[in-house]
Amino acid sequence: MADKPLPDPVQKFVDTIRTYCADGKEGETLWPVVAEDLKALLSDPTLIEQSKTWPDTKKGDGPPSNLLFYEDPDYGFVLNALVKGPKSVTNVHDHGPSWTLYGVLDGGEHIERFSRIDDNPTEEGPAELTSNGEFDVVPGYIDVVPPWEIHQEANGDHRTIGFIVRSQRSGTFKQYRYNTENGGIASYNGPTQIPFDLT
Ligand SMILES: [Fe+2]
Repeated sequence: MADKPLPDPVQKFVDTIRTYCADGKEGETLWPVVAEDLKALLSDPTLIEQSKTWPDTKKGDGPPSNLLFYEDPDYGFVLNALVKGPKSVTNVHDHGPSWTLYGVLDGGEHIERFSRIDDNPTEEGPAELTSNGEFDVVPGYIDVVPPWEIHQEANGDHRTIGFIVRSQRSGTFKQYRYNTENGGIASYNGPTQIPFDLT
């Protein structure tokens, strides 16, 4: 995580989230509100410019990792980036019990969402999925991903940079991958976290 102070606009964003948390906001009353603040941050030209130098953290269908910019010592939320190289595609997965704000800084991608239509327990299979719609996202778009929402992302021939706010750091909870052919579910710890200074 960052040893250096965060850049001013990012520090202000963190302070805003901390104020909401101190006011007792959480879950549905917190993260959709933070998404509005994230929208302003995503248009910061310095952040956009700097993101072009961030290393790829996912290549092709290989495993994802995240740059870790900040972890809040009191409320546990984190700031990450996922930098996808060209032609990256994720597994069909959820983010377990965490909330995620996935903001596109550069590039773009295609997202498909799924719902479970079986009655089996959340963390057990087999899972039967149905597509819940698909859409393309572009820079400035923020995907608000509530707990347990199942989705898959694929980008095209270009790099895609996602600036991410998570309610808790990946690795502190289980999340799940879904096999759409046999209904299998597998738990995993989420993207490896790579401490990275935002300067
Ligand atoms: Fe995801």
